[in-house]
Amino acid sequence: MSRDLMRFLTCGSVDDGKSTLIGRLLYDSQLILEDTLASLVRDSRKHGTTGEDIDLALLVDGLEAEREQGITIDVAYRFFSTPRRSFIVADTPGHEQYTRNMATGASNSDAAVILIDARKGVLTQTRRHSYICSLLGIRHVVVAVNKIDLVGFSAERFREIVEQYQDFARALGFASVTPIPVSARYGDNVTQRSQRLPWYQGPTLLAYLEELDAARELADKPLRFPVQWVNRPDLDFRGFSGQVASGVVRAGDRVVVAASGRQSSIRRIVTADGDLPQAQAGDAVTLVLADEIDVARGDVIAPAEARPEVVDQFAAHLLWLSEEAMLPGRSYLMRIGTKFLPARVTSLRHKVDVNSLEHIAGRTLGLNEIGVCNIATSQPVAFDPYTENRETGAFILIDRITNATAGAGMISFGLRRATNVHRQSLTVDRAARQHRNGHKPVILWFTGLSGSGKSTVANLVEQELHAQGAHTYLLDGDNVRHGLNRDLGFTDADRVENIRRVGEVAKLFVDAGMIVLCSFISPFRAERRMVRELVGEGEFIEVFVDTPIEECMKRDPKGLYARAKEGRIKNFTGIDSPYEAPENAELRIDTSKIAVQQAAELVLRELRRREVIVDLSFSWSL
Ligand code: ADX
Repeated sequence: MSRDLMRFLTCGSVDDGKSTLIGRLLYDSQLILEDTLASLVRDSRKHGTTGEDIDLALLVDGLEAEREQGITIDVAYRFFSTPRRSFIVADTPGHEQYTRNMATGASNSDAAVILIDARKGVLTQTRRHSYICSLLGIRHVVVAVNKIDLVGFSAERFREIVEQYQDFARALGFASVTPIPVSARYGDNVTQRSQRLPWYQGPTLLAYLEELDAARELADKPLRFPVQWVNRPDLDFRGFSGQVASGVVRAGDRVVVAASGRQSSIRRIVTADGDLPQAQAGDAVTLVLADEIDVARGDVIAPAEARPEVVDQFAAHLLWLSEEAMLPGRSYLMRIGTKFLPARVTSLRHKVDVNSLEHIAGRTLGLNEIGVCNIATSQPVAFDPYTENRETGAFILIDRITNATAGAGMISFGLRRATNVHRQSLTVDRAARQHRNGHKPVILWFTGLSGSGKSTVANLVEQELHAQGAHTYLLDGDNVRHGLNRDLGFTDADRVENIRRVGEVAKLFVDAGMIVLCSFISPFRAERRMVRELVGEGEFIEVFVDTPIEECMKRDPKGLYARAKEGRIKNFTGIDSPYEAPENAELRIDTSKIAVQQAAELVLRELRRREVIVDLSFSWSL
């Protein structure tokens, strides 16, 4: 981050005059090209709300659709400069359904300008915007009390609003809150000091933004260097390339690789323009260490005496960005710094009502919702609490099926509970068990609708395997729900947890050297894939029992479809709860086309083909 570039966010709603304020900043900064200006005059007559005056808001509300609705709907970044500085303004919509847009704009801003209409004072949305700003690590807030002309330039009204704001903002922990009375429409105190507000002694908005030194704060923190890639063009050179996330690095500094704890010192700081004696937050460099120690992409290089924490479980605020709800237990791909690794939300502690800031109970997060969660990662990761370092305390969760960003997280603190639980190494191992059993261990996973025939086929397969002397066990949805998973129902979240537990149990059976047959609707691709990834290559065999729903309904062995159709059972798969069919199942069978015995034979044939069992004494006993 260069020190003469300043990023800020504007928050406010349609009527607060946000677009007019940004337009005013751009206009007064002399950055409007003549031809833009000419078309602006034309458009003002057509759409404007200011009569014959130029409507500055039109400069900003670029999209035709937005103009017609009179609202701004996306994050727009605007650029302008003064002789002292360049600015990037993130202009985000104010409505609650655009929380994610606002968060996007806030996450890389140094300051926020929160607009308040002088006539209306502090509103619910002012609180929401402020909370999101504080959550996303914005340290400096300007409270622009706009339309001050419409309250007669009243000092008293201004003070009243400022007091109201400061009352609730105290809890949000901003480093500075700077109130400024402005009239965006007439330009008072935006870039020019207003003659009409003689009682106000502070800076104009632009002067304030020109002077704020937020970038310095990042350079003053301890060094964090997330390694982007290992640069090894030949045997003589090995450097670690990336961007300094925070702090300063100097040649000769003692450093440590956070996760492994290995130490070395900085031999060189290499750039395309030659070596540097030092680099600071924002600089892209290649570090060469004095010793040959293990460093990989995703590692964090830090000072030996000021290391980040390294944990595999932590508490975090999570803002959900996806239309598809967050499900505890589901495996997401986490990106933290330059590292990618699988992670799960282990529990949602509570949700936060973004308007009242109250804690509310819940099991999932929907689009634009914020919650406090416990998160577990597949390996320990280096981090700092987000309030201490925005660069190393933030992460995103990616949906592993669609690859879309699903959530944005801010780490609060590490959870140390599990750090003293080590793995015991056991003498009788898997290979020993497999050898005695005389077959390979696998998970045979039957998925399909209720009534599709999963359990019937699984039962026949187990019978035959047993007769052949194989060591087997059958985990069945209905049975498991009487014991291990007695506490779970049929919401999406509960089904995820159902399959997660069953997956872990099945993995233990595989470790025990057994063939474990699992018969579960398991309607979600993500969880089936999670179980697949729990065991080794070739040890998960997915059997899609693809019987058409019409046939399942006709069979309706437990009378459940009939009850579901009457609305007496909620979340019934195929009726009012989805089933995501497998795309690459190892085997697909349709019990409406073939008899269950034939289906079982197909499964056994597949096991032989994969050499899970060898064809010793093939005794078809059905
Ligand atoms: S899963 O979706 O979580 O994988 P599971 O296979 O364990 O489901 O349990 C499904 C069995 O529970 C069904 O065969 C049916 O007998 C019973 N059941 C009761 N309510 C429902 C429901 N709402 N949806 C699906 N199955 C249900």
